[in-house]
Amino acid sequence: MDTASQEKTMPILPEGFPPAVRIKDLKAHVGQEVSLQGWLYNMRSKGKLAFLQVRDGSGICQCVAFQGDLPPEVFEAAKSATQETALIVHGAVRGDERAPGGAEVGIKGLKIMHLSREYPIGPKEHGPDFLLTNRHLWLRSRKQAAIARVRAQVKRAINDFFDGDGFIQVDAPIFTPSACEGTTNLFELDYFDEGKAYLTQSGQLYMEAAAMALGKVYCFGPTFRAERSKTRRHLTEFWMVEPEVAYCDLSGVMDLAERFVCAIVRHCLNHCAADLKELERDTAKLEKVLSPFPRVSYDEAAAILKRKGVEFTYGDDFGAPQEVAVAEEYDRPVMVHRFPADVKAFYMKRDPADGTKALCVDVLAPEGYGEIIGGGQRADDLTYLVDQLAKHKLPQAAFEWYLDLRRYGSVPHGGFGLGVERTTSWICGIEHIRETIAFPRMLYRIYP
Ligand code: 4AD
Ligand code: MG
Repeated sequence: MDTASQEKTMPILPEGFPPAVRIKDLKAHVGQEVSLQGWLYNMRSKGKLAFLQVRDGSGICQCVAFQGDLPPEVFEAAKSATQETALIVHGAVRGDERAPGGAEVGIKGLKIMHLSREYPIGPKEHGPDFLLTNRHLWLRSRKQAAIARVRAQVKRAINDFFDGDGFIQVDAPIFTPSACEGTTNLFELDYFDEGKAYLTQSGQLYMEAAAMALGKVYCFGPTFRAERSKTRRHLTEFWMVEPEVAYCDLSGVMDLAERFVCAIVRHCLNHCAADLKELERDTAKLEKVLSPFPRVSYDEAAAILKRKGVEFTYGDDFGAPQEVAVAEEYDRPVMVHRFPADVKAFYMKRDPADGTKALCVDVLAPEGYGEIIGGGQRADDLTYLVDQLAKHKLPQAAFEWYLDLRRYGSVPHGGFGLGVERTTSWICGIEHIRETIAFPRMLYRIYP
């Protein structure tokens, strides 16, 4: 519940200023006097009037200073405030349907908290490199703030969904002694006298242990991949949510993924209307994200690629061009299942009906956003798994604990991982996932 009355106002106010409200709640204060605590986003003045666009992190509001209403020094202060000057405005809230938040403020008092000089990000176009170097400031722009709020709602939807569905959240470690998703993209570090350790690529293996203890679990945190890929869909540090369920097969995993993705999209449509509008997102496309999602096998997807003349070698994993071409066929996410086992991770269970395939699934988002979920049913047989470790040249000793799960009460189980940044960029309709995380970590960037 985030209604205005339940939120505490911020305490820092000059003498005589009325209680502060946040811009997103202004509409509920029409006719009242309030204070706004924020920063100057933009300003234009015309004779006896100055129009200040004030932002406070919850929205942007037009505040109007009229010379006739104000002591000369206050009007002067309003007119001379520069972009990103921190200020507190006191004024009367007027309903105005044309105003973005449905209200504007007639200024009665103003206090400059800190004058900002020569703010580097102006209204003119800047290149991505400049903006990324100034990411700590770029976050203040309208669009970036809208994306940050949508991301927060995506995360909230994720927690709400699993917490409301009987899952227990279990935190997976960040330092790990072994690989989960192949050995080519591990971030390596020295771990005291224990030798090499790695930053986690996935919490999955630990969630499998937790699922055997608690039935239905999920972890939700940052994961790391030393990917040498400089694409719009790859970060070296990204957030992933990973549910894992005991007594669950591939079809159960797909049912869960489908309900989950629908719930995230619905939540964002319900809670992010203003931000999605700011981002000029065509929400009609998101409204179509409803059950059931099409489920196509790898073989069926390969036939689609062949029919469309998309370059592809049967047996290979999909890259972006293949994902986009298959997803284009549908108006909602598509679930591609049963990839060739040889191109997938060591822990996947083979399809009993076709031993060359794995019981796995990738969920591909529509509109060219590609894979947002990867998961499936896990190998539950000890001998098979020991063999797989050897095939993948993974050291069995480091996985003994994982093998124990197949020694003591092994059951069919499965789960998946959903990437928060890819999901947020799809929901926001933005090109590059680097804008969906406050401080992106990429191949050629670690500052700021
Ligand atoms: O398909 P992936 O690699 O699956 C796993 O890690 C499994 N262990 C998850 C599981 O079954 N518990 O990654 C899952 C998702 C991808 O679909 C994608 O959304 C995201 O994580 N992802 C990335 N996002 C941003 N940058 C990267 N480099 C990503 N790699 C994967
Ligand atoms: Mg994957």
